[in-house]
Amino acid sequence: MNSHADSLADSTGTPVPTRYTRTAITLHWLIALLIICNVVLGLSADSLPDDWVRPVVDTHKSIGITVLGLALLRVLWRVSHKPPPLPREFPSWEKMAAHVAHFLLYLLMIALPLSGWLHDSAWKDAATHPMRLFNLFPWPRIGFVMNLDPALKESLHLHDRFGALHTWLGYALYALLAMHIGGALKHQWIDRKSVLKRMVP
Ligand code: HEM
Repeated sequence: MNSHADSLADSTGTPVPTRYTRTAITLHWLIALLIICNVVLGLSADSLPDDWVRPVVDTHKSIGITVLGLALLRVLWRVSHKPPPLPREFPSWEKMAAHVAHFLLYLLMIALPLSGWLHDSAWKDAATHPMRLFNLFPWPRIGFVMNLDPALKESLHLHDRFGALHTWLGYALYALLAMHIGGALKHQWIDRKSVLKRMVP
């Protein structure tokens, strides 16, 4: 619920929020933290000692599935709430760039874990090595992909292709995060018109 200070009224008297709700703030920072953990785990997996690789990749998969669930909740929040509008004095190209970046970030929060899940489901040994979420309970693979004929999977190089997609979506994420964080810091330090304070508790 918005307190009086968290919303203003527009010219028609409709309340316009001035900051994000507690739910939106919690989801934003929790997802950000989990994504950073997963980038570190994903990038370091290949350079770790052999007996670390399995637990690290398994943790990476569990965190990624958690991000997918939280991202879906976040999309539900977004379609059911009006976010606080960007300050009127921002130039329109900057508002447009922010909206495009936010939309693409929502897409990536879903597409990145999904591509990892596809990559893992296309692994030739997926059926004989069940996945467990945080080693607590079994978690399904994407059955349609896992149960494809092994020869077809092999000839289409599905595992490698989904792996490459996962890597490329990772590159897109780095570029968008640079824009997103760069934009927030520009408003904070150069324009001196903070939008960051709307997203902190
Ligand atoms: C927040 C979501 C996720 C992020 C940000 C993420 C990020 C990454 C990154 C940066 C890499 C290294 C890619 C490279 O440089 O080639 C990677 C590798 C990988 N990811 Fe993800 N990922 C996510 C979700 C998932 C999910 C849900 C799964 C599977 C269920 C998964 C499975 C894998 C696997 C198997 C690898 C290869 C690890 C290895 O080197 O053996 N990822 N991921």
